[in-house]
Amino acid sequence: MIEDPRTLKAIKNLESPRSVYLVVSSKGGVGKTTVSTLLALVSSIEGHSTGLLDLDFVNPSTHIILGLDPRVIKYEEEKGVKPYMVLDNLYYFTIVSYTMDNPIALRGGDASNALWEILAIVRWNNVENLYIDTPPGIGDEHLDILYRLRRIVKPIVVATPSRLALRSIDRLVDILREMGYGEILFIENMGNGLLRSYAIEKKLIYTGFIPYISEIEESIGSIEKLLKSDLLSYVKTIYKNLRGFTRG
Ligand SMILES: Nc1ncnc2c1ncn2[C@@H]1O[C@H](COP(=O)(O)OP(=O)(O)OP(=O)(O)O)[C@@H](O)[C@H]1O
Ligand SMILES: [Mg+2]
Repeated sequence: MIEDPRTLKAIKNLESPRSVYLVVSSKGGVGKTTVSTLLALVSSIEGHSTGLLDLDFVNPSTHIILGLDPRVIKYEEEKGVKPYMVLDNLYYFTIVSYTMDNPIALRGGDASNALWEILAIVRWNNVENLYIDTPPGIGDEHLDILYRLRRIVKPIVVATPSRLALRSIDRLVDILREMGYGEILFIENMGNGLLRSYAIEKKLIYTGFIPYISEIEESIGSIEKLLKSDLLSYVKTIYKNLRGFTRG
């Protein structure tokens, strides 16, 4: 099969970071965006050059957590697109700087084209850890990424302790296994450790839990408040547990 040149460019771009984490879940609203943004913040304050890429085109929301007005997010072009520097160590790409927060409806093929275009043009060459936020569910275009980038990305499955959520997580895990992912990282959000045994049973790598913290709403939109929030110590533990797992 002849590879699309964009796939090859995407692979080249994503080979630069030491680790590329794709934050996924078969369920909506489990905290993928919160977790990916907080992990990126923790990684950057721990002194590592970090990237955050928002691949949720339908409901991009990492900028809301970071408190960034889409109008201030600007990219320089230099042999591709350079992500926007949010903090000294934090580089960021989201489509809201183009769409200005207007929802865009992309059909399957267009969504896939947009995804590969972004992966092919945005350069992460000075980044050590890259965190990618994805939309809910396991749509074709994301399956495509997981399949084509299976040697590069490390999937992090986020789940909440709910029986209904776990049923769909089971299916996602099966799909990842069929694609050849041996090590699948796992984060329990809005829980208290209950899913550790589930993760062990499914041979997932349990990296920790984040409890339900109602005050999170007050911190959203302010990096300063997020960094002081009660959530952070949990995210730091997870960040450390993820560090040994770098490649797909
Ligand atoms: N540990 C937590 N404690 C309390 N609230 C949380 C926690 N994690 C996430 N939330 C809240 O849950 C809601 C969903 O979170 P988030 O948007 O990160 O989920 P998501 O999986 O990205 O959703 P979607 O599938 O729509 O992209 C948000 O209002 C967020 O503030
Ligand atoms: Mg989200």
